[in-house]
Amino acid sequence: MFAADICADRVALVTGGGSGIGLEIARQLGLHGAKVVIMGRRPAVLEAAVAGLAAEGIAARCIAGDVRQPADAKAAVAMTVDTYGGLNILVNCAAGNFLSTAEQLSTNAFRTVLDIDTVGTFNMSRAAFTALSSHGGSIINISATLHKYATWYQVHASAAKAAVDSITRSLALEWGRVGIRVVGIAPGPIADTPGLNKLAGDAVEDMIKEVIPLRRVGTKTEIAQIALFLVSPGGANITGHTIVADGGHHIYRDPPMPHEMVTEWSRDRETNARKSKL
Ligand code: COA
Ligand code: NAP
Repeated sequence: MFAADICADRVALVTGGGSGIGLEIARQLGLHGAKVVIMGRRPAVLEAAVAGLAAEGIAARCIAGDVRQPADAKAAVAMTVDTYGGLNILVNCAAGNFLSTAEQLSTNAFRTVLDIDTVGTFNMSRAAFTALSSHGGSIINISATLHKYATWYQVHASAAKAAVDSITRSLALEWGRVGIRVVGIAPGPIADTPGLNKLAGDAVEDMIKEVIPLRRVGTKTEIAQIALFLVSPGGANITGHTIVADGGHHIYRDPPMPHEMVTEWSRDRETNARKSKL
């Protein structure tokens, strides 16, 4: 749906780009002309991903690192700039999550998820500031909808992603003056991803569909296409905002009565109310 050269002459750094949603974002940016660097902790995963991207004709490199470490963040940005001559798009997609009841979650487990998702997003953004500001850059923070209301057994990830959305707004406010746009994408459950597999699994995927108004999970390509839109001319005046793409999952509520009963029940109430007034 986008012109093939929409990202030509642009360079993207994607954290968590070795797998799942991050890899698909890197792939779609690359298929539309960007040169991409992917970052994560597992070298073998990254190298396999780069080989797959290269096989599709995409200029891609990888660097192993941990977004929790400011030195790793700086090294990833420096490697990107050294390799491709600049940086235009930073995608903060690295995250950690697992299910745990709040009372069984250790302080270190809570902190670990905030460190990866929230501190990692800050570290990478801060490290990329100078490079992005000299190339009219964009930051895309991959969020979630967990914190829009509340989500069972994910007090850690909900808090982390709420803070990520806050970072999106704060950096958009402060860095707009140097031409950096900061935007977010909040996916709902996305098929064929390590995240959904870990948190729900195949069996639960059908149950999840019942609580999604559109009655389906999303796809990695849909999320990547939102990323493309956000770096396209159509997205050029958007900053500070996080786009939700969850099929309506976060607004779902159980109906108070079965759908087919509502009209009859309501008419009966109306009729009874009129009768009592007579
Ligand atoms: N339930 C409860 N606590 C857990 C847990 C689980 N499933 N998995 C890890 N923890 C706890 C650990 O016990 C530890 O706490 P402790 O020191 O009090 O015992 C703390 O979390 C840190 O664990 P550790 O394994 O040292 O962290 P790590 O940095 O190696 O890994 C994770 C980070 C735990 C988030 C790991 O799942 C990960 O690397 N995830 C990345 C991929 C991912 O989650 N993808 C889905 C994205 S939606
Ligand atoms: P994923 O493939 O497991 O994505 C996580 C990626 O982050 C991995 O490539 C992982 O690689 C990397 N990573 C984790 N910790 C890191 C660290 N400390 N430093 C650097 N890289 C690190 O899972 P996914 O399901 O595609 O999720 C991708 C993003 O979408 C996440 O931000 C997630 O919160 C969000 N999201 C996903 C869904 C869904 O349904 N899947 C829904 C809502 C939001 P290494 O382990 O090699 O480091």
